[in-house]
Formats: sequence, C-alpha cells, structure tokens
Amino acid sequence: MIDTDSIFLATSRLAEDGALRAAAVAQLKAVCGSPAYRDWQSSPSQLRPFKLPASFTVDALNTLGLVQDGALGVRVNLIGQSTVLTDGVWVDARIRVFPFADESEAILAYCRRRGLVHWADTVIDLATGSGHNLAFFGNGVRRIGMDINPRALAYFHCNHVLNEQTDRVGMLNDIRDGFAGVVGGAAGSRTLVLGNLPFGLASTRDMLALTSNGGDNGLQLQGAAFRAIAAFRQTPQGAHAHAVLLGYSLGNAATKQWELVDLAKSIVGADSVVFDVPAHEGLLRVDGRRTMANPSPLRPALDMAGGCRLYHPDPVAARTRYAALSDRFIAQGFNDLAYVIVEIAPAGARA
Ligand SMILES: C[S@@+](CC[C@H](N)C(=O)[O-])C[C@H]1O[C@@H](n2cnc3c(N)ncnc32)[C@H](O)[C@@H]1O
Repeated sequence: MIDTDSIFLATSRLAEDGALRAAAVAQLKAVCGSPAYRDWQSSPSQLRPFKLPASFTVDALNTLGLVQDGALGVRVNLIGQSTVLTDGVWVDARIRVFPFADESEAILAYCRRRGLVHWADTVIDLATGSGHNLAFFGNGVRRIGMDINPRALAYFHCNHVLNEQTDRVGMLNDIRDGFAGVVGGAAGSRTLVLGNLPFGLASTRDMLALTSNGGDNGLQLQGAAFRAIAAFRQTPQGAHAHAVLLGYSLGNAATKQWELVDLAKSIVGADSVVFDVPAHEGLLRVDGRRTMANPSPLRPALDMAGGCRLYHPDPVAARTRYAALSDRFIAQGFNDLAYVIVEIAPAGARA
C-alpha cells in the first residue's frame, strides 16, 4: 500500500516540476485507457494492484513513487478531463479512500437533468474523498470538499495539483459537526451541495469500510447531512442552495415510500424535497459491477451484497449477517431496497 506520506511527497514533486506533472498525467491516462486496466477495474482482480505491462512507459510514475513491485500503487479514474488518483480496494478498509467514481457519475447525471451543473457558482461536497464529485466542475466554479479522513484529503490535494485546479479547497470535517464554519460565501451565490456519504447497510462497524458503513439502515450519516444542510439553509449563502444526496434506502416500491426521503422531509420540510429512484442505475456494486434492478426486493439484494468479494473476505458470514438484517427490516414492513437521489431545493424551485 502507498502510505499517506508518499502521497504528500508525490504531490510536492508534482507542484515543483511541471514537466513531471505533464508526463505523469499522460502516463496515467494511457494506463487508464487500456483494455487491460478497464478489465481489471470491473472485476475481482482489483483486489490486488494493477500489474503494469512492460510495454507501458511509467518513468514519471516511478519518480513519483506510485509504482510498487511493478504494479500501480493507486487506482486511477478518469472524469472528464481530470485524472483522479485514489485508493484501490486492497488498502485497509479502516483507512481506505473511496475507490469508485460511479456514484459521482450518478449524482452528476441527476444534476445535469435538473440543470444544476451550469447553474452553480459554488459547489460544496460534504464527504469528498479524493474529489470525484468536484472533478466534474471546472476552474471558475468555487469548490469546497470536506471529509473526515485525512488520507482522503492527501489524495484530494494531489489530484488538485495533478489536474492544475484552482478555486478548490479541501477541509477536514466531520459532517456530524455541520459545515463547521467553513462556509462563508456571499448571499445570493448559487451553491450546490453534493453528498454521497457512507450509506451501506451494516449491523456492525467492522462489516463495511469507513467509506461505506451507514449503520443498520444506511441512514446514520444521512441524517447528520440533512441537519447540516438545514442549518446552512438558514445562512445568507445557503438560502438559495440546492443539495443533491445519493443513498440506499429501505422502503416499499409499490407505495413509493422510502426511508431516506422521509428522513429528509422530517428535517428540512416536505415542501423542499424532490427525489428520484433512477431505474437505469444498477442497485448494488458487487465485485465491481452494478447489475441488480433499482429498486429490488430487500432479501435477495442484501444476500447479493454479502457475496461481494471486494467488501467481504468471508461471504458466508456476511450473508448470514445480512439475512438477519433482512429479517429484522422485513418484520418492520420494509420490502425493498433502492438507490435514491434526494434533492433539497429552495422554496419555489422544486418542479
Ligand atoms: C462513499 S464515500 C464517497 C467519497 C467521494 N464523494 C467519492 O465519490 O469518491 C464516503 C466518504 O465519506 C467520508 N466520511 C465518512 N464519515 C464521515 C463523516 N462523519 N463526516 C464526513 N465525511 C465522512 C469517507 O471518508 C468517504 O470519503
């Protein structure tokens, strides 16, 4: 595993040497665009770092300390023009920075449909990881990324330098403390708040990575995020903000009742909440692919989640624990699980 100090050292080298930076970007793009990398990225092979074929030029990546034992020590995701470095799933789940960009793509697809991408002059990402959500926005848009994990901010800053971004800052913050005073933009600014907080269902702390563990019902940190947004909406900057959050939700497809939506309504008020259950988004990322229908019946969905080799070294034990969780929630009247996008819109802007 690449240690956090090495990410910091690579960032310093990138900042000091423009030619090295340009070469590193070109070499990372070549790796990431190769069929071998694409196969690796969507299969259980990603449990180990990507072995670099001898035909690849990687001298700049070597200089930066990103190559270890002939393998790339980081994961790379291409987002628009940006090259985003982050952890792979082989990194210890207690400190791992979120590897995947597909949730950000889902959030951004929703924002595009709602016309929010070009509307925003400021974007605040509540749990930014290495910065996937913000990578969709260009220089000129003020961007603030917050996260509880200092290693995530090391990657965030590295990606900032690697992609020559300006107007972007990363901050250590626990969303349970709200926006922690880091926001002080002008009244009237068009602020878009984004969030894909940890939302995986898990009955214990060790059942899922820090990046994914949302407690029993997946809502533990979503509630904190909605409360932070409610407080932000009381500030001059937040009065006209839109917030878009992604999460899993227990609920019932037949009645279109979703816990995540009800939680948002109870905190910010029902007339501010819009939601979508995007049918084109596969429900669960199992072994790197999202293949289940959204929504899906709870029991088979959680059973499939337990079988994910990327998250559960002992799938039999994980399936047993998920079966117990399913029993509990089905007894409470929840039949289904969905990927839900919740938007909190200012008064009069819901439609
Ligand atoms: C699902 S990941 C998404 C990360 C990032 N948005 C991305 O798409 O790569 C959830 C993120 O929430 C962060 N996180 C966990 N608990 C948090 C908390 N209490 N406050 C703020 N961030 C938290 C994790 O460190 C992780 O980066």
